[in-house]
Amino acid sequence: MNNAFPKDFLWGASTSAYQVEGAALEDGKGLSQQDIINTERHEKFGFADASVASDHYHKYKEDIALFKEMGFTSYRFSIAWSRIFPNGDGEVNEAGIQFYRDLIKKLKDNGIEPIPTLYHYDLPWPLVEKYGGWLSRKVVDDFANFAKYVINEFKDDIKYWITINEQSIIVQYWTQKCYILPEYQDNNQLRYQINHHMNLAQALACKYVHEVGGLAGPALGYAPVYARTCKPEDQLAALNANDLRNTYYLDVYFRGYYNVAALTYLKQHGLAPEMEEGDEQLFAENLSDFFAINYYDSQCAHACPEDITEHSWSGYNLTGKKGDMSGFETHPGFYQMCPNPELKTTDWDWAIDPIGLEYVYRDLYTRYRVPFMITENGLGAYDELTPDGKVHDDYRIEYFREHIQATKRAMDLGVEVVGYMPWSALDLLSTSNGYKKRYGLIYVDRTDDDVKECKRIKKDSFYWYKKVIASDGVDLD
Ligand code: BG6
Repeated sequence: MNNAFPKDFLWGASTSAYQVEGAALEDGKGLSQQDIINTERHEKFGFADASVASDHYHKYKEDIALFKEMGFTSYRFSIAWSRIFPNGDGEVNEAGIQFYRDLIKKLKDNGIEPIPTLYHYDLPWPLVEKYGGWLSRKVVDDFANFAKYVINEFKDDIKYWITINEQSIIVQYWTQKCYILPEYQDNNQLRYQINHHMNLAQALACKYVHEVGGLAGPALGYAPVYARTCKPEDQLAALNANDLRNTYYLDVYFRGYYNVAALTYLKQHGLAPEMEEGDEQLFAENLSDFFAINYYDSQCAHACPEDITEHSWSGYNLTGKKGDMSGFETHPGFYQMCPNPELKTTDWDWAIDPIGLEYVYRDLYTRYRVPFMITENGLGAYDELTPDGKVHDDYRIEYFREHIQATKRAMDLGVEVVGYMPWSALDLLSTSNGYKKRYGLIYVDRTDDDVKECKRIKKDSFYWYKKVIASDGVDLD
């Protein structure tokens, strides 16, 4: 068996705009909902806000030089809507679009394929003020206007467009990923209404990408769900969880309709989105071409009696102390999530499961037969900068190694994978835990409280990944 990945395999890494760029109000950028959300989280929990983040806006040339040194042939980033349309609609901010022209040119000059995401959690704040943001169907037209503009601007430079990042995670953690006005936060049907608006927006983005001859695909945070035991009722609960957490999204992207069991369950519980005539037709006419997989962990579920408890969507660990989870997603009569006793976890209780990635590739390729790319995969950890200026992140190397091996095993069985872009190229503002939890191949010297100079330092994983890329994925030691 040849251990090498194909010569044209895309090796790189990923980031998103508000998590790395900073310059939150520079050169005409407007506020995004993430500027507001992270300012509030700073006041409440002490996590960094998004104003400076990793200062990539000013240091992008230095960052691209480091990417080049690692041998990247691709880089996934996102385009901040509020940099281009500071009000969400209306006039284009020329300096904002120029930043992405410069970034894309610099990447291409260095032989790195730019892979942009159109939307990564950062809706322009004026649209929240105007009509509640994603809560209103009006957002679809504004997103379409933004997407069309950007796609036309960069049509000659971009092959792969990632449309919307992680709709299912937005449903689960909706107040963290979206600004939800307090008066709506008890209305859980709106989680699925937001998602429906995103599905419409996603389909329109695919349409515009196809009109200019590109390829479009969504990025989904995808965790397979295992049954906690081999009891039939737990197996069925795992199927239910997969339907509501995963297939509910994928069927829209790749088949043009909502998964029937999941949608019926939502209807029975007053949670289903309101749709208009023609919505599913729009989905069906604008299917996605590839699936951008954000894989971190697998999940586990067991049966949940009908009368046991209320619905809940998410548990979170804010402290980074193992076991400090606030709860587990629960849907009466359908499933309840739980820890998997068979797997080790990160400090934030995310299960580490490379075989789960292999399972995902195999399962989804059988069902949808589309190419995949990994657009996130990573280990959030407390990295330590040692006095000699090094970061010995052997745990991250082990994590990447095992997930790259899982990728290769799936490819050897015929699954089409075009690239591996783990999370993250450099340390960035975690969506849930500030700068305490780090993912990068490149260390950014700042803390939640002190932005310092944001100096770049190569971690051990940087040197390791460079070797991996140079050997086409053969040298994983
Ligand atoms: C994904 C997101 O959900 O997971 C990223 O697309 C995020 O934006 C990543 O940073 C890791 O999650 P967190 O909460 O640890 O930053």
